[in-house]
Amino acid sequence: MDKSEKLALNVSGLLLVVFLVAIVYASVAKEVDVPTCITDMEPFATDTLFQTGPDSYELQMVARMWAFQPGNITLPAGSTVDLYLTSQDIIHGFKITGKNLNLMAVPGAINYMSVTFEEPGVYDFACHEFCGAAHHTMAGKFTIVEEEAFEGETFGEGSL
Ligand code: CUA
Repeated sequence: MDKSEKLALNVSGLLLVVFLVAIVYASVAKEVDVPTCITDMEPFATDTLFQTGPDSYELQMVARMWAFQPGNITLPAGSTVDLYLTSQDIIHGFKITGKNLNLMAVPGAINYMSVTFEEPGVYDFACHEFCGAAHHTMAGKFTIVEEEAFEGETFGEGSL
């Protein structure tokens, strides 16, 4: 075998090990996981937000051309949100600025991720899949307020 072939094989083998270690690291140390897909549930017909514990909420979000329902959510700092997302029409994306959360909104499927908002502030979210003429308007926000200033969770239409 030629020296250069041997080198290419060794480099390839080393890269495979690096990729495997990176995947295991992301999965174990960073707890990165693929979104859960619950195919045996009816797709959501409408949006719902309810409290499930002292600092936890469940949010059932619906994406459609060209809005998220709800589009405007107010919660206290320290809240953990179990987010279930589906679409009423075509495939949309969902990404919260500054958060390690990126979901697809797929008709007929419900995708899940959990997100915690430690700090007060405004966390914008937007559709990241090109979904038609008004794709660029498909956005909303989480408004996270100080726990003392919070007067009950609210949600409603987006502000765009
Ligand atoms: Cu929905 Cu882009």
